[in-house]
Amino acid sequence: MAKINSNYQKLQAGYLFPEIGKRVRAFASENPTAKIIRLGIGDVVLPLPDPILDAMHKAVDEMGKVESFKGYGPEQGYDFLLQAIASHFKSQGAEVAPDEIFVSDGSKCDTANIQEIFDIDNVIAVTDPVYPVYVDTNVMAGRTGEAENGRYGKLVYMPTTSGNGFDPELPKGKVDLIYLCSPNNPTGAVMPRSSLEKWVAYAKANEAVILFDAAYEAFITEPGLLHSIYEIPGAREVAIEFRSLSKTAGFTGTRCAYTVVPKDIKARNAKGEEVSLHSLWNRRQTTKFNGVSYPIQKAAAAIFTPAGEKAVKANIAYYMENARIIREGLKGAGFTVYGGVNAPYIWLKVPGNLTSWDFFDKLLRESHVVGTPGSGFGTHGEGYFRLSAFGIRENVLEAVARIKSRLKP
Ligand code: MLT
Repeated sequence: MAKINSNYQKLQAGYLFPEIGKRVRAFASENPTAKIIRLGIGDVVLPLPDPILDAMHKAVDEMGKVESFKGYGPEQGYDFLLQAIASHFKSQGAEVAPDEIFVSDGSKCDTANIQEIFDIDNVIAVTDPVYPVYVDTNVMAGRTGEAENGRYGKLVYMPTTSGNGFDPELPKGKVDLIYLCSPNNPTGAVMPRSSLEKWVAYAKANEAVILFDAAYEAFITEPGLLHSIYEIPGAREVAIEFRSLSKTAGFTGTRCAYTVVPKDIKARNAKGEEVSLHSLWNRRQTTKFNGVSYPIQKAAAAIFTPAGEKAVKANIAYYMENARIIREGLKGAGFTVYGGVNAPYIWLKVPGNLTSWDFFDKLLRESHVVGTPGSGFGTHGEGYFRLSAFGIRENVLEAVARIKSRLKP
């Protein structure tokens, strides 16, 4: 009989969001009249804006004519989109060349797949709490060892708590791969420039690689905060950056993201020689990926036109107003809340001695509101709870009103 990859048996529980979905479905079938408001998984609710839809429609029509039909596209993405993304980086003060950008169908896939180009013995550092994909994909690859009390023996965990302002401290020893996410999912915190400078210096000194997840950069509202790690001098030699159009432009269903692997970044092979990570990732993508479809890339390029940018900004402002309503509403009701200023997530302290899952069940039962238990993101997430700002305004207002009236902290 064939043998399985037994690393899969080291995974703890199911993936967080399907587990939440299961519990919500069970509650809904027992309480068919309950009007459930979902602020759990961060999934957009506003439709694609017109400039983006128009571009997609036009591209679909092109696919119907022999003279404009497209078959396989370049695995890295069409030049029109790569150029638009590179200009966008430039406008943010980051130097990225079009041929350093890899367009993909999502940052979840890219942050999951990137570890394939690294040796199995690399020491991995993750924050705690953390976006579970970074951990689970390294478990699947066999890099983490077994889990004990919710932690994998071979991972280095960097607590991000209210005690350190949700800003991870440098690991005591040497690590090789560092996952950072800013603005952070789930805490909503943004790493300040000084912190990113510190990490870039650490990575240089230790020949480490930073895997920088900037999926939520477009939600930064405060001036002076960095949108790209490449705004830090020297970061091009040590960091890979992931960006997503999912939340930024309503593409969670449409699927489009991009990853930057600068040509300056190197890691060593078994002989100790320096190897270009750009070449390895290009090799990986050209072997395993056939690119994002032409209509989707045309729609994505429209995001970077003046009309597209304006429409996308309006949608982001709508979600960030939701974030303000949740943050201020809960604060006013006596909850301790973090995040929600530069990220679409509100990270709240669970009241009393309840666990995160206890609070999940209580909130669902008493308010019919769905959120995400902090413990699903790591042991330091225990006692916290995440609410997403991706909701229709009237639902967000109602959710806050229900929590305030039915769930006093
Ligand atoms: C989340 O809710 O954390 C995200 O929607 C998950 C994802 O982007 O994969």
